[in-house]
Order: sequence, then C-alpha cells, then structure tokens
Amino acid sequence: MTKVRSRNETEVAPKSEESVAEKVNRVLASYCGEKAELIPILQQVQQELGYLPEEAMRQIADFTGVPESTLYGVATFYAQFKFAPVGRNVIKVCRGTGCYVKGAPRLLDEIEKLLAIKAGQTTPDLEYTLETVACFGSCALAPVMVVNDKVYGSLTPAKAKEILGCGDGEG
Ligand code: FES
Repeated sequence: MTKVRSRNETEVAPKSEESVAEKVNRVLASYCGEKAELIPILQQVQQELGYLPEEAMRQIADFTGVPESTLYGVATFYAQFKFAPVGRNVIKVCRGTGCYVKGAPRLLDEIEKLLAIKAGQTTPDLEYTLETVACFGSCALAPVMVVNDKVYGSLTPAKAKEILGCGDGEG
C-alpha cells in the first residue's frame, strides 16, 4: 500500500537477539541510579526500544528506587515519551482551526479509513502511526499533514491517499 519511505530503515532492523531486559540493563549500566538521571535514562531506553514498555518502566523504577507510579507521572508529563510501539512512518494531521475550515476533518477521515486505524493508533504491522497536532504553524498551506517531518499542504483526501497509497510520496 505504501510508497512512503521509513524515517530510517536501519533503525527498524533488529540489532541483535537481545531481550528487552538485556537492552534496558545495557542502558542502565552507564548510570548510577540517581533520580536526577531519570529523564536521560527514559530517553536512552526509548531510543533503544522505540518506546517505553511496562517491563522497561519496572526495571527503571527498580534501578532508581523511584516508585513506578511516580516514574509514569514524570514520563507522561513529556510528550516525547511513548508507551506503545510507534510506526516506522509517523503521520501527523493538523486539527487546528485554519486546517479545520479547509477540510482537515475529511482528510483525517480518509486517512483513518485508508490505514484502518484511528488517530492516536498504530497499524498492527507497525508501518504507520497516525497522530493529530493542534497547529503546525503552516496555516497558509491548510489543510496540512506531516509525514516523517515532510510537510504536505493544500491537501485533499484524494491527494493524501495518493501520498500514502499510490503516489510517489513527493509533494
Ligand atoms: S491550523 Fe493547521 S497549520 Fe495551522
């Protein structure tokens, strides 16, 4: 279905047969377990695993002595942390007023149908994650979507379908 290229295809190739626990332990080995290290640890574990699974959060909690509930409280404060796998391609559709009046709801509806997921979800094959954003600051191009940091403007549902399904992924 897709011609949109992955952000970094080497990122998704398995590096080894390491388990989640082993990967997390490898990250933790370079830290002392101090509370001040929480954010860098979370960042590095997410970089390693692509997201923060429950198992990893438990290990980090044990390592730092921070209760799991507190750890989730800290991590959920930052939008950068993900608690479910993220697709190789991240599609962000603007739901700001400028895009709304230019047809963003129909655009989002078409993409949801095309991918068979709702905003906030990832396809089961981990190919796509669909998100919405309040405003990209590119309102003159409304309606706007961003695929892996590439901006597509003046979209129609048909254009979006072409970009994600049958087009060449360019403009
Ligand atoms: S409202 Fe969509 S880019 Fe600003």
